[in-house]
Amino acid sequence: MNLKHIKTPIKGLNLYLNKVISDERGSYCDMAPGGTENELYSDGIKHIHASIATKKFIPRGGHYHYKLRENFFTLSGTALWYFYDFNQNSPTYGESYSVILGHDKLGINVGIQEFTIYNNSAAQIAISPGVYHVFWPLTDMETVVAGTGSTEYDSEDYNRMEIKDVPGAIEIFEKIKKKITEYGKNKIPDFISPVGQKSLPLNKSENKLMKKIKAIIPAAKNNQQRPFSHTINKHLIPLGGRPMIFHPIENLAESGIDQLGIIIGREDDVLKQVVGDGSRWGIKIEYIIQQELTGLGSAIISARDFINNEPFILYLGDNIINYSIADLVNKYFKEKLNALLLLAKVNCPQRFGVPEIVGGNIVRVEERPMRPKSDFAVAGFYIYDENAFKAMDAIKLSDRGQYEISDIHNYYINSDLKLDYQEISKWWKDRGKPEDLLEGNKFVLQNCVFAKKQEYMEGEIVGNAKVEGSVKVGKGTRIVGKTLIRGPVSIGEGCLIKDSYVGPWTSIGNASELNSVEIEYSLIMDNVNIYTKEKIVNSVIGRNASIVSGDDNLPRGKKVIIGENSVVGW
Ligand code: G1P
Repeated sequence: MNLKHIKTPIKGLNLYLNKVISDERGSYCDMAPGGTENELYSDGIKHIHASIATKKFIPRGGHYHYKLRENFFTLSGTALWYFYDFNQNSPTYGESYSVILGHDKLGINVGIQEFTIYNNSAAQIAISPGVYHVFWPLTDMETVVAGTGSTEYDSEDYNRMEIKDVPGAIEIFEKIKKKITEYGKNKIPDFISPVGQKSLPLNKSENKLMKKIKAIIPAAKNNQQRPFSHTINKHLIPLGGRPMIFHPIENLAESGIDQLGIIIGREDDVLKQVVGDGSRWGIKIEYIIQQELTGLGSAIISARDFINNEPFILYLGDNIINYSIADLVNKYFKEKLNALLLLAKVNCPQRFGVPEIVGGNIVRVEERPMRPKSDFAVAGFYIYDENAFKAMDAIKLSDRGQYEISDIHNYYINSDLKLDYQEISKWWKDRGKPEDLLEGNKFVLQNCVFAKKQEYMEGEIVGNAKVEGSVKVGKGTRIVGKTLIRGPVSIGEGCLIKDSYVGPWTSIGNASELNSVEIEYSLIMDNVNIYTKEKIVNSVIGRNASIVSGDDNLPRGKKVIIGENSVVGW
């Protein structure tokens, strides 16, 4: 019988993890390996019952037996179990134990052990007489428990104590109920980084010009960051623990700009919900629908009414720029420019808008040229006047079917309008490759998150666990066992990091669990479960993914379920 044994502090109460095999159809669990030879049934099976709890937080059970030995299996639902040893002859008399068992992972860390079929760990409870047991469903799914008994059903063989008379029971239940209820209130549907909801304290510039100028951020959903952008708008992919788009928004808000238009597609409600109305940054955000997804030019056109013929900032939502926006706006007005661009030196200009510079002036901008005329890229931050709209009336769709921003720039140049540039060195831009996300995560950890130097330790570091360097840990996260976290690292809320090493430039989203893992230079999103002895490096792991050891289930070997456009390297 090859069952993993989980010890409890109560003699006569044991947990065993049964083998679960899961595939896309569901799960299969062997509940009695070894059949009648299984020693957990050595007292015989005289009855089999089902106990079904249908209401969230309403308990079932709540008794102990004088003679009966039982085995329980949770088949559906997820419940908190509480046990208390009332056997006066037991060496563990008065000891208690609580555990969460069930079908689905709870999704937040409530600080006690959890075994779920979701994690391929269906726990069997083997329980002796004298051990009190009660369980509360923690989710809306009904909790179905199957049980076997060593004697026939006997209504006399019960001590049905009231829960309030069992030491510690109500306390643990109330504590966990509170965590679940509070989390539910703050939760954004589908686990999109609630931790990102929190904004860093801004050091707002008082520059009056900033109140005059509006900004727009194009952020319609596209498929540029596959496979992640199949399920979320890429601007919501977290970098340094917060959605990518929060960085440009915060940069604008910090510079004192308080009117922002975010341009989205018709189906971008989730982005709207995650970003909100701007009040968390003390600014006003309006959402503008881009009717046709034909390039940045058409994004600008959709904001025509919002801009109302005034100078404006265009800030691409997949760019992070570390340069003072106030200085750029000052330069724009002081030098009476019509357009201001940012240029950054890059290794591969072929992927960008590239300026040709003669005598310190940009004489032409080419979009994605085969033979670039300089090693600069035009970065995704621009200031324009109303001529941008005149340019849009004049330019045509490019060969790739877009109204190109580079053609708008050429319109300014060819119309003898004053277009100038500022060179910058700290810039990150998503080019749609998973490696970009790792670089972006590093950029944010280096330049944004820790540059603001604050106290970031909101979680709990227990016992011998160690944290070195700059480490940000969200609420409800527990770092336990022989864990070492070596910053810069950002960890979200409600995670459990156990017996693991988390190395530099790693971000972990919310409600994720790492057990016995070594990981560095990686980006892990929300609700991820990793339990493997393999070292993980340079990896991007999407929401709700699991990486668990393949060694416990036969045949041994690496087992993968990989979505479209994924990459695995081992
Ligand atoms: C766009 C522009 C390109 C510019 C880049 C900066 O490209 O077309 O000129 O250099 O933004 O982010 P894309 O968003 O398609 O990468």
